[in-house]
Parts: sequence; C-alpha cells; structure tokens
Amino acid sequence: MNGVIDMDTSTGKSSRIQGFHKLSREERIKILAEFSNLNNEDIELLDKWGAMESKVAETMIENVVSAMSYPYAIAPNFRINGKDYLVPMVIEEPSVVAAASNAARLMREGEGIISIATEPIMIGQIHLIGVTNPDYKAQMILERKKEILELANSSDQVLVSLGGGAKDLEVRVLDTEKGKSIAVHILVNVLDAMGANAVNTMCEKIAPRLEDITGGRAVLRILSNLADRRIVRVRGYVKSEDIGGRDIAERIEWASAIAFSDPYRAATHNKGIMNGIIAVALATGQDHRAIEAGAHAYASRTGRYIPLSKWETTPEGDLVGTLEMPLAVGTVGGTVRVHPLAKLSLKILGVSSSRELAQVMGAVGLAQNLAALRALVSEGIQRGHMKLHAKSLAVMAGASYEEAEKVAEILEKEGNVTFKRAKEVIEKIRQER
Ligand code: MEV
Repeated sequence: MNGVIDMDTSTGKSSRIQGFHKLSREERIKILAEFSNLNNEDIELLDKWGAMESKVAETMIENVVSAMSYPYAIAPNFRINGKDYLVPMVIEEPSVVAAASNAARLMREGEGIISIATEPIMIGQIHLIGVTNPDYKAQMILERKKEILELANSSDQVLVSLGGGAKDLEVRVLDTEKGKSIAVHILVNVLDAMGANAVNTMCEKIAPRLEDITGGRAVLRILSNLADRRIVRVRGYVKSEDIGGRDIAERIEWASAIAFSDPYRAATHNKGIMNGIIAVALATGQDHRAIEAGAHAYASRTGRYIPLSKWETTPEGDLVGTLEMPLAVGTVGGTVRVHPLAKLSLKILGVSSSRELAQVMGAVGLAQNLAALRALVSEGIQRGHMKLHAKSLAVMAGASYEEAEKVAEILEKEGNVTFKRAKEVIEKIRQER
C-alpha cells in the first residue's frame, strides 16, 4: 500500500499511514478501500455528500472522505417569551421530535415558556505550577488585574470594539495531589460567539505575563467548559387537565423529587433534557461536546449529581417546571459560518443573538424533559417508540419505504411488532396487490 509502514503481520495491513492528511480524497479512499475491502457500492455511498459539499467539509476537519447525514426535523408549537419558533432538530432517536412538539403545545399558553439567559461570559483558565508562596503570588496577580485584562483584550480588538472582551479576573489557589497550584480565571464576554477561539487566544496571550509575575510555569491555557457564568434559566406552566389530570402532575413531581435523591435516575432525567438540547445544537452547528460537558459538570456543582430541571405541583394541582444550566452556544463563527444547514437552521429559528439561541435551546430542553416524564409516569415510553420502531423493522424485513408505513400500521394494530410478522405482512400486501 502506498505510504504504508509498520505492517500488522496477522492481516498484512497497517493503519499507520504516513502523510494521510496530505493525500487527495481519492487517494485516501483508495487506501481505505484496500484496507477495509470496500466495493464500488460502498465507495458510491461515500460520494453522497448531502447538503455539505466536499470542499466545505475539508475546511472543517482533516482526512475527510465523506459526510454523514442524520434526520433533520422541525418541531412546531414553541412559544418562548411570547415569540413563536419552529425549531430544527437533528437526531436519530425516534419520538424525540414528536415529544418536544407535544410538550411545547402544552406549555404554549400566554407568553409560553419563559427563558432568560445571562450575559455570554466564558471562563478562560491559566493553571500555574511551581509557584512558591502561592497565596502571596495570587494577590500579586490580582493587583495587576487591569494590566492583565488589557493584555488579554489586545489579542481581540474586534471583540472589544463590539463591546465584548475580558471583563474580570479571579484567582484560585488549588491544593492538588502534586502540591499547590494557581488557577487564574479571566471572564470574557464573547458576545454572539461560542467563544472558545477568542478565550483560548487570550489565555495563551497572558500566560507568559502570569509566569513573570509568579515565577511559575503556565501548564494549561484553555477555556473551562463548566460555563457557569453563561446560564440559561427556563420556566414553564402546564395545566393538569392538559397532561391527564392531577394524578399525572403529582407523579411527575415525584419523578422530579426522585431524580434529586438518586444520581442514577438524575443521569437519565438529564439525558432526556439533552435529547432536545443536543438535537438543536447539531442542527445549528454548535460544539455539542462542550454543551454536554458543561451540563453534567453543572449538574454536579453541589458535589452530588442532580437534575438540571425541577417539577412541582401548584396549590391548584397544575404543574410548574424550571430548568437551569450552562449553554455555551454561538450564532457567529465556527461551524455556523461554514455549514450551510447550520446557517439555514438559524434562519429558520430567526434568532438574533447567542443569548436568544440559548433561551430557545433551554426551552426545548424543558419541553423534552416534560414529555419524557409524562410518558414515563403514564403509558411508558415504549408505546411512543413503537410506531417508528415498527416502520424501521418493516424496512429491515424487506419492505420498500412506500410499503413500510402500511406494514407498521398493521404490526402496531396487532400489537405484534416482530421481524417475523413484518415479513409475513409484507408478503401478504404484495400478494393482494
Ligand atoms: C430516552 O432517550 C430519554 C428518557 O430516558 C428520559 C427520562 O427517562 O427522563 C426517556
């Protein structure tokens, strides 16, 4: 194989490929095809780029051979802060979009879901090691706050001219297992960007100065994904008669209380919230790993993992829900700038700032959570899953996409959603034609 070294003797192949990133896509595919025994049909599949052209993909990551598509859907019914939204969601899991839309309908009354977001403040961290008298040096850093912030801001004049930039500085002395170290935090208003690039550049810019001041070494210079200064807070109201009565409302309150007492349940509860949030994050080209990391770190901020949302009944027996979590999202820069569907998603949403996007995403998270809890405490979530499950089972059993709808309907009606029955039904439909 061209450029291949360090052979695996059991297969006669090697994944150690020098300069893979320098090869053209065709050359990469040739190597891939040889290594993984791909046939022409496989290669044709890699040639299907969907909404993203190869040249766009190549500007985003290295070693590109194709682009992978996921279902892109719209969740209607969202009214947030009195404004109506159609919400694009990208997700592979059945029922999530339908569930979000249903719950949004239940919380539409009046101004609908109320969602507020703080200023988009990200934290940049510089960790200094080898500092003698760290408490003393921590104060020396604080005394030079103005100078350090100015230095940080000199790396992003555009951000500063628009009103953003490094606004404050904090210092923490850490007691690590290897001894004391200093964590310097800069608090940066990143405006409509997710902010990683701006913040990381600032951290790298000020690190040498912090080394000078402390006599230590800057070992880490990067933003924190625990974006606890960039928080969204959401609340929603549901009439008990709209969710099946007071008993259901009370059970949802119980489900919420249980999640606060049981981290095993809290993780699943929060997963339901993230189903909605990450689906919008993918549709709008966000760094969803950063969002996940921030969410779960925030859920653990008390030293115990707790749910990001809470549901309670009112004296009238209705249900009120709140959600609070960090959301580091952007409407400019990064993937948003280059991915055509990410751009389109923002146009569909009609959001004008990163804060508005965070407000929408938080609202989707709360709606998703309500839908999951409502299903869990009543009929269970499997029924909702069954229709789409039956459809994909029908396709797996050999139905055409046109036949699948009918086959799924029959399987569901019979309550017999099995591969064997799907095959029989397909045959019957074809004979009847
Ligand atoms: C499944 O993707 C999400 C749920 O497990 C969430 C929950 O249990 O609250 C249904």
